[in-house]
Amino acid sequence: MKTLTLTRPDDWHIHVRNGDVLKTVLPYTARQFARAIIMPNLKPPVTTVAQASVYRDEILQAIPEGMDFTPLMTLYLTAATSEAEIKLAAESEFVHAFKLYPAGATTNSDAGVGNIQQIYPLLAAMQRYDIPLLVHGEVTDDDCDIFDRERVFIERHLQAVVNDFPDLRLVLEHVTTAEAVQFVEAASAKVAATITPQHLLLNRNAILAGGIRPHHYCLPVLKREQHRLALLKAATSGNPKFFLGTDSAPHLTHLKETSCGCAGCFSAPAALELYAEAFEQVGALDKLEGFASFFGADFYRLPRNSGQVVLEKQQWQMPEICTSGDVAITPLFAGKDVTWKLL
Ligand code: DOR
Ligand code: ZN
Repeated sequence: MKTLTLTRPDDWHIHVRNGDVLKTVLPYTARQFARAIIMPNLKPPVTTVAQASVYRDEILQAIPEGMDFTPLMTLYLTAATSEAEIKLAAESEFVHAFKLYPAGATTNSDAGVGNIQQIYPLLAAMQRYDIPLLVHGEVTDDDCDIFDRERVFIERHLQAVVNDFPDLRLVLEHVTTAEAVQFVEAASAKVAATITPQHLLLNRNAILAGGIRPHHYCLPVLKREQHRLALLKAATSGNPKFFLGTDSAPHLTHLKETSCGCAGCFSAPAALELYAEAFEQVGALDKLEGFASFFGADFYRLPRNSGQVVLEKQQWQMPEICTSGDVAITPLFAGKDVTWKLL
């Protein structure tokens, strides 16, 4: 049987929500990943170190007995964030970054930033205190085609931010286009990107061809095949600027299978296996460990993990639904074959 042994990986971008959904989804991540960067887009958003501490305690409570998992907290950046809070976050042991959501870009982003120029003093403070900025890189203008929103965000906003704050450590989250790959490659070593499993495995046909598939809908939306190929090339290149971030984003099944469904793919049940499948497609399994286990830790200046995980080439079927109590969430690739299995 073909196996693949990796240093224990981390997930550098995940949504685990709170309450009963948290209890349902967290075990899937904790069994695969040693650590994860926890997104702060709760309702209300996690905007202060004090709130992040409460949320962190809730996450720690939800880790199943015997599993070793460390949540790495982030704060939701708003126009009202204070420089004092940025200092507190930078000094805190458990807050590792700020997340910038353009207002209206995605789930629970209403409290996000309307005008990036307005938060320039905050970006200066982040640069000064050397705390990373994580960016949801899409414009929200109604007149911008949804498939162009990432490219236009880079052109109109991100290039300027990177020019104006050359020492700011910045992660362009869940990149989806060849233009984003080029931007990250051309930028300094302070600029990196995460890539999701769905953007490596699927193109936009997966949402619309042969019927509308809400469980393939996420933001930024899947793009054309040429973009998927550019992402796959970047992820498997061995360039440390690109690392694993699933953006696993659970929504209750009935909130996705409806006339106006929520954005997000719940990939946590087979995250690492799906990346292995993508890397194997291009004969690059030897590049998976750097992407999954080393480059993110190096960027965040955290120690690499010491334990190991083993994947086996073995077919299994993704369940149709993940449930516990009243919670029912359809995973990405529900009912489909997965070709690698985490032992
Ligand atoms: O598809 C997405 N879902 N994209 C995001 O940026 C947010 C996420 C969520 O929180 O559901
Ligand atoms: Zn996300």
